[in-house]
Amino acid sequence: MAPVTSITANVHQRLTDALTAALPETVGDPLLRRSDRADFQANGILALAKKTKANPRELAAQVVERITSGDLLKEIEVSGPGFLNITVTDRAIIETLAARAADGDRLGVPLKEKPGVTVIDYAQPNVAKEMHVGHLRSAVIGDALRGMLDFTGERTIGRHHIGDWGTQFGMLIQYLIEHPGELAPADEVDGEQAMSSLNRVYKAARAVFDADEEFKERARKRVVALQSGDQETLDLWQRFVDESKVYFYSVFEKLDMEIRDDEIVGESAYNDGMPETARLLEESGVAVRSEGALVVFFDDIKGKDDQPVPLIVQKADGGFGYAASDLTAIRNRVQDLNATSLLYVVDVRQSLHFKMVFETARRAGWLSDEVTAHNMGYGTVLGADGKPFKTREGETVRLQDLLDEAVQRAAEVVREKARDLTEDEIQERAAQVGIGAVKYADLSTSPNRDYKFDLDQMVSLNGNTSVYLQYAYARIQSILRKAEGASPIAHPELELAPAERALGLHLDSFGELLAEATAEYAPHKLAAYLYQLASLYTSFYDQCPVLKAQTPQQVENRLFLCDLTARTLHQGMALLGIRTPARL
Ligand code: ARG
Repeated sequence: MAPVTSITANVHQRLTDALTAALPETVGDPLLRRSDRADFQANGILALAKKTKANPRELAAQVVERITSGDLLKEIEVSGPGFLNITVTDRAIIETLAARAADGDRLGVPLKEKPGVTVIDYAQPNVAKEMHVGHLRSAVIGDALRGMLDFTGERTIGRHHIGDWGTQFGMLIQYLIEHPGELAPADEVDGEQAMSSLNRVYKAARAVFDADEEFKERARKRVVALQSGDQETLDLWQRFVDESKVYFYSVFEKLDMEIRDDEIVGESAYNDGMPETARLLEESGVAVRSEGALVVFFDDIKGKDDQPVPLIVQKADGGFGYAASDLTAIRNRVQDLNATSLLYVVDVRQSLHFKMVFETARRAGWLSDEVTAHNMGYGTVLGADGKPFKTREGETVRLQDLLDEAVQRAAEVVREKARDLTEDEIQERAAQVGIGAVKYADLSTSPNRDYKFDLDQMVSLNGNTSVYLQYAYARIQSILRKAEGASPIAHPELELAPAERALGLHLDSFGELLAEATAEYAPHKLAAYLYQLASLYTSFYDQCPVLKAQTPQQVENRLFLCDLTARTLHQGMALLGIRTPARL
């Protein structure tokens, strides 16, 4: 494994060295960025000239004099009031890319120097309930962030904080006691059967609960039995959890997502620690008693009538809720799992909850300055009409139906394009295209924005879609297959066409982009990078004949660019959790 210094980093270093040589007393940033005029532009000299009261153009000239060009820089020109336009050599581009190509799947991308431990809380549906589009977003975004973090060398631990506790279980369990046999054994059902069986029990239990006061009373007593750890009650509760997991796993499998059983650690897992959490908060004065409940107040969090809105750690009846479970989870994640970062991929509508939970944990000393905590709150999923996502009848859309429909649409696209595929191959590809489309549509939108779930747009071959990227990948594979005798080989001595340079420099910036997108928890930046990569490849392909290039060396060099583009696309898509089939 050999990390590669990018051209940008190299140019940056040389400019910084020259700046230091010209102005030994001052530390300055050359403010380097990619530019259309030359390869790069450096704008930092203006600010430095101002600071040192120098003439900017003169300072620029002095810096240029001190730059070591070597094989890296072809041209440096002072322009305007004191900008530098910088062009790198064709040789430097191809040599740097050759080093990337020699580095296997890592493509020369370095590992983080000081990796930490990130506990990432994502894909957290609720027991005995249907998963909805919000849960889909959390799963897709969380899985992509995890892939990206892992690739940078960070250690990640997943936590699926499923909703597996609460008073509704009193009603469900009591119903099952009175109607044994209504819930099919978990090991005898598939995902869909599990969910419909749970739905049936839920509806039936609810109906009795609403109509029968005596049942309501028995259900209430059942909650107490559950909370006090009564074994029979717990066993029945476990049946609901197991049945739900059969369903969850079937959805995750459809989503082509790996979920580990030991990382499904739901709300209930923290029950034993909650009294201690409450005691510590009360003893330290972080939480106070108010009307019998144990609560935490915040100066800046107020509701209607300017009344403070507290976080409720323990209700007046002694019960613990959602907040107590999250607070206890923080203690576990920091103290036992040694997390240095806590990341929560949860609907933005819970951001106030997390703000209060984090602040409480900081006051209690469970979160120190060394540990970051962040709720990556995502927006609402809207229908194509811009309204919250519902069926025509106004019901919430079943996640499975949605995914099935995406795959079906994708099958139409694949079937239209495929000439020689068998039906099995079409179905396999349709799954990769359809699920990829759903994931990509989500990931390419900035997460805190609402996004429109529009299947027509998602599986379109044009525009910023995963299908477009998958086609770019498959087209490259087809060229590589057709190349027959010729192999992808880098030839640094060749002169490059503008489209080759643009593609090459973009390929070279993969690692930097990834580091930035990962540090900002911004998968949409990786998606945008990949889309631009595919677009630059398309221009290259339009302008530069590959197999019919003029010399055998040029054929090899262009095949080399094709191959590295494909590998970068593949790796980037894989980090986002999206497959790139070799043929489409
Ligand atoms: N189960 C919750 C819901 O469906 C999301 C859980 C988020 N994670 C957490 N640690 N609170 O809304």
